[in-house]
Amino acid sequence: MSDFSIDELVIPVSTTAPSWPDFEVVAELRNAVETEGFGTAELNYSAAELLPVWLNTKYDPKRMFVARVGGTVVARGTYETLLDPIDDHAWLGVQVLPSWRRRGIGTALTDRLEQVAAAENRHELIVYTVSAEAQGERLPAPTGFGSVPRDNPEVRFLLARGYRLEQVERGSRLPLPADPSVIRRLRADAAAHAGSEYTVHCWSAGTPPRWRDDLALLYTRMSTDAPTAGLEEPEDVWTAERLVAEETSLAASPRRILTAAALHGPSGHLVAFTQLSVPAERARSVGQEDTLVLREHRGHRLGMLVKTANLEYLAQQSPGHPSVTTFNAEENRHMLAVNEALGFLPMGYEGAWKRADRLV
Ligand SMILES: CC(C)(COP(=O)(O)OP(=O)(O)OC[C@H]1O[C@@H](n2cnc3c(N)ncnc32)[C@H](O)[C@@H]1OP(=O)(O)O)[C@@H](O)C(=O)NCCC(=O)NCCS
Repeated sequence: MSDFSIDELVIPVSTTAPSWPDFEVVAELRNAVETEGFGTAELNYSAAELLPVWLNTKYDPKRMFVARVGGTVVARGTYETLLDPIDDHAWLGVQVLPSWRRRGIGTALTDRLEQVAAAENRHELIVYTVSAEAQGERLPAPTGFGSVPRDNPEVRFLLARGYRLEQVERGSRLPLPADPSVIRRLRADAAAHAGSEYTVHCWSAGTPPRWRDDLALLYTRMSTDAPTAGLEEPEDVWTAERLVAEETSLAASPRRILTAAALHGPSGHLVAFTQLSVPAERARSVGQEDTLVLREHRGHRLGMLVKTANLEYLAQQSPGHPSVTTFNAEENRHMLAVNEALGFLPMGYEGAWKRADRLV
């Protein structure tokens, strides 16, 4: 056991706040552990990109804990919940720098996060974590799709703490530039299938005011209409007011959000959307964020329509990025089929774990 201490990190209000240097160290730590797990640095976020996300707690409560050895941060623990005090879910994450593992630091940080959850009456604990590929025995997901290496440190760690693997998420990568003729053909096919009732609209940064309620509904449905297997993640309700608050805080980020959405002419509502998170530096990878087609509008190739439209929009607005990365549940065959047709290839896998601390 090393001599370490745990404290809650004060999220800096700006880059001149006293806790900014620690926040930068924590961002580097996050990136080092993600790079180790996925074997690529393409998923890295800078501290300046992470800060608006961490300051945005009005609707997304979150807290960060750090473990220090002699004052130096060697591990972080993240705690996220929903605003609803009655909801009993909490999302936890622990990352220990490789050279500080097997000293009880991961255990102590996770104990701390679980204590916070218990104090708030949050009894459904969910952990998403990367599992690097390895030889040997596999632990299959109960969905029947995907598995993780049974002897990986994080797998042993979570099993020993009573967590159950519920789902496997596939991380995929599309090398850019995508062949414009392929994207054009896929878009034309999708548009022909969708027919004249649907039209595509693209925008960057804030959602046009007339579509805020529609986007809020699409975000809410993201929490209920995407497959969550045995995780049974709760509904996360969005309103136009929350959307504006989120977009206002993200405006401070160096990243830019590009949105493509499908408008259903007869009803006058947006019924499908997809978003890309674009870093300012052209040498860095673009992140695929949410994609959703409302259940009642599925089967018209709207997923392919909005994704191809956004890739074309990206090529116009910010050409030169090396790739787009995305995450999908391994059982989400419809979404994976769209991505595979676009040229996305698997790059790594995450386990989604749950422990239900039901009081008896
Ligand atoms: C998983 C992780 C957090 C563990 O942190 P850690 O500080 O090494 O954990 P601890 O020293 O407290 O280990 C606790 C127990 O986990 C299990 N464990 C952890 N690493 C292990 C390994 N490499 N091999 C076998 N068992 C391991 C053991 O049961 C261990 O108890 P023991 O040392 O008494 O045998 C760390 O490996 C890590 O940061 N991995 C990358 C991020 C991640 O996957 N996080 C998932 C948890 S949210």
